[in-house]
Amino acid sequence: MDQETKSFLKFIIFQAKAQSKLLFLGLSFALLSSALTGFGTWSAKPIFNFVFEEKNYAYFKFVPVYIFLLFSLIGFFSLLQAYFMKALSIKVVNSLRLKLFKKCLYLPYSSITKERSGQTVSRVINDTSQIEPVLGESFQIIFKEAFTVLVLISVAFYQKWDLTLLILVTLPAIVWGTKYLGTKARRARSLTQRATGELTHRTGEVLQGIREIKLVPSKEILIKLFSKELERFYVLSLKVTKYKESSKSLVDLMTGLGGALIVGYGGFLIMKGSISPGALLSLITAMLLIFNPLRKLARAYTGLKEAQGAWMRIEEVLKIEEELGGNFKAFPPREGIYLKEVSFRYGQDLPLVLERISLFIPAGRIIALVGPSGAGKSTLISLLPRFYDPTEGEIFLDNQPIKDFDLESLRGLYGMVWQEPFLFNLSLWDNLTLVKPEANDEEVREACRLAQALEFIESLPQGFETVLGEEGFTLSGGQKQRLALARVFLKRPPIIILDEATSQLDTLTERAIENALQNLRGKHTLIVIAHRLSTVVQADKIVVMDKGKIVAEGNHQELLTKSPLYRSLYQTFQRREG
Ligand SMILES: Nc1ncnc2c1ncn2[C@@H]1O[C@H](COP(=O)(O)OP(=O)(O)OP(=O)(O)O)[C@@H](O)[C@H]1O
Ligand SMILES: [Mg+2]
Repeated sequence: MDQETKSFLKFIIFQAKAQSKLLFLGLSFALLSSALTGFGTWSAKPIFNFVFEEKNYAYFKFVPVYIFLLFSLIGFFSLLQAYFMKALSIKVVNSLRLKLFKKCLYLPYSSITKERSGQTVSRVINDTSQIEPVLGESFQIIFKEAFTVLVLISVAFYQKWDLTLLILVTLPAIVWGTKYLGTKARRARSLTQRATGELTHRTGEVLQGIREIKLVPSKEILIKLFSKELERFYVLSLKVTKYKESSKSLVDLMTGLGGALIVGYGGFLIMKGSISPGALLSLITAMLLIFNPLRKLARAYTGLKEAQGAWMRIEEVLKIEEELGGNFKAFPPREGIYLKEVSFRYGQDLPLVLERISLFIPAGRIIALVGPSGAGKSTLISLLPRFYDPTEGEIFLDNQPIKDFDLESLRGLYGMVWQEPFLFNLSLWDNLTLVKPEANDEEVREACRLAQALEFIESLPQGFETVLGEEGFTLSGGQKQRLALARVFLKRPPIIILDEATSQLDTLTERAIENALQNLRGKHTLIVIAHRLSTVVQADKIVVMDKGKIVAEGNHQELLTKSPLYRSLYQTFQRREG
């Protein structure tokens, strides 16, 4: 057994053990229903012999009743086993989903933002939905049908072993044939899925780019492209059907061969007197009943292989190491944040984005980071709450390396607002109080007022109860920024970082927010990546960055005289703001 199968089995067994009660119930009813099926086929012989051979015709009337009751009971037990097995499989998949969800919450930021692994994570989350029906059905089928097949084969062997053996030689052909055709069908199906994806994508593209498309003079090219995809989809779909139906026909063919063998050889044996008609009837019933479960087992096998593939990908994500913090509880810095010789690159083969940065950010002050696009400003601030760790060098809060702090308490010190803040599909209220669940009405309103968000929120029909995304409700970029700022005013974290957080606001609104932020001076450390002059000029300390390095620091007046880059940035600011 290969490593992958082993790990998959280990996972299944472990999960099944955790649900031992459901497993026990499911297995018990599976056993009962299989045993009854076996008993039914076996009983064909004594009943046939008793009623027909010994001519006890008076008892014949009980035979249909017996058959009916028997199948009803089998059906009832099957229902119960299906129910418990489904419950088991959903519990397994749900626990897997929960595990993945929790894992995502603690994955290192870098593992999600890196192109390749980011894709893995999102694909894997899809995989869990794919795994559920497959796993559920396969569990159900394998436990039940495997028993049934065993019981039926035993009955057949018991009746006449050599005849049974003769029929069973058709089995390998079925197994091998379905497996072969199954692989072909799977391959064709994955191509079809890709083709379907392509079609969906094209349709989506049309809708997304509707404005651009409206301006395109001729739609012929787009229509031709789409028709070509349709044709491809048609060809591939037919291929899938061909393989799938062939595998069914193969089973029919073999059933025919088996039937011919039974009737031919069985009839010969009866005439020779070496088997009773009752026994042959029982054997034929058993053999006829065996084909359906076999077919299902073959399908379940493919299903399990698919589930195994999904599991391997899930395991890959579960294996990613979670980010690790220290044991100390972080505290608001009294002196400040100190970066010592910090260098950083996003990936082993990527160039340095920050190069030997040494910087002191005094507590309770306003620091502005300026520099051309791509200078490394956003990168630098993302090191502070440890979204990334420096490739070289170290960062301190007062005199303590930030690696020593427990991550939750370290990040608890920060409030951050980005250019494109993210809001959840929750009510505005919930979005705001996420950072401070115990906040009362007055606090929330005050925070919104400072962030210049209160007015527009109150003008909404549902006010704070407006749910984002519901009935197509969305916020403009500037409204999102104001909500994100309101979060900061509500949480009042010791360290506030704004990365072009007011870029989408008009000057008046921005001024008002800036004034509110000024009032936080002294109690809060403010790090601002600024895109407007007014913010920069008022900062206690301005840091000029270029190409991953700090090229100058000081206040506005000092920098005007000593930094050519600052002077040119200043001129751009001035020109832009008139
Ligand atoms: N996730 C990432 N993976 C790889 N490289 C990145 C990543 N993010 C940024 N970079 C690179 O790091 C460099 C610095 O980017 P950064 O976003 O820190 O600049 P910035 O100063 O904030 O620029 P802007 O003013 O345009 O926001 C750029 O060259 C960018 O290409
Ligand atoms: Mg940036």
